[in-house]
Amino acid sequence: MKGEVLFSLRNVSKTFPGAAAPVLSRVSLDIREGECLLIAGSNGSGKTLLMRIIAGLLEPSEGEVLFRGLPAGRQEAAIRRETGLVFQDPDAQIVGETVEEDAAFGPSNLGLSKEEIRERVDRALAAFGLEEKRRSPPRRLSGGEKRRLAAAGILAMGCSVVIMDEPFANLDWPGVVQTLEIIRGLKEAGKTVLILTHELEKTLALAERLVILHRGLIRDDGEPAAVLDRLNREWGVRDPRRNYAEVKDCSWL
Ligand SMILES: Nc1ncnc2c1ncn2[C@@H]1O[C@H](COP(=O)(O)OP(=O)(O)OP(=O)(O)O)[C@@H](O)[C@H]1O
Ligand SMILES: [Mg+2]
Repeated sequence: MKGEVLFSLRNVSKTFPGAAAPVLSRVSLDIREGECLLIAGSNGSGKTLLMRIIAGLLEPSEGEVLFRGLPAGRQEAAIRRETGLVFQDPDAQIVGETVEEDAAFGPSNLGLSKEEIRERVDRALAAFGLEEKRRSPPRRLSGGEKRRLAAAGILAMGCSVVIMDEPFANLDWPGVVQTLEIIRGLKEAGKTVLILTHELEKTLALAERLVILHRGLIRDDGEPAAVLDRLNREWGVRDPRRNYAEVKDCSWL
């Protein structure tokens, strides 16, 4: 068991007006300090909504969210300072006119000196291979580069919790490897990492815990191998422990 409980969701449900069914139902989840947790679920299972609720960007209709044992609603500033988010849609988090300005946005809200901010931004842009683009407008970056910029901003902020929503969407193979190396680096630095994705095969080896979300309900939660052994086909999550030794095996059918 890892450290202290950071986020605690208790019977969290979310219903939108006019919708037939809740999009999240009685979700209970403890996220502990230093944990690398993978939340998997098919399209529409509720991953992005769950991330928004954890990060305090969306209010649950029922249930409660605690941050370090206190109601999250009264911990907004601490959550914002400690939690770095990588959104599924990277356009949604562009804040700067240039790449370097964008990466500096988070750290510049921490009351750091100009030199410290500059150093952090330099280090983060280098880690994500964005130095050459530092004066480019972020909107002109490719999808994968925008995602790397979001991650660079988080690195520069020094958040203790990183939550990534579909971090591999749009990334090429080197981009995936780079992202995995960053995740491994975050883990080694003792950060809490929460990844929401349907691309299980890319992160399973790094995760200590796997949660399956299907139609807004947590269907399983535990050690990855054990959860995969118990997978129900209806949950829309595929066990990636499959042999691709031959070309004829390279099919998802
Ligand atoms: N504002 C809203 N009003 C009504 N329904 C919504 C709203 N936002 C999301 N939903 C519904 O909630 C469900 C879960 O959405 P969510 O975006 O969390 O899924 P997801 O697991 O992130 O999917 P994906 O893998 O496609 O990103 C979907 O069926 C979606 O249509
Ligand atoms: Mg989503």
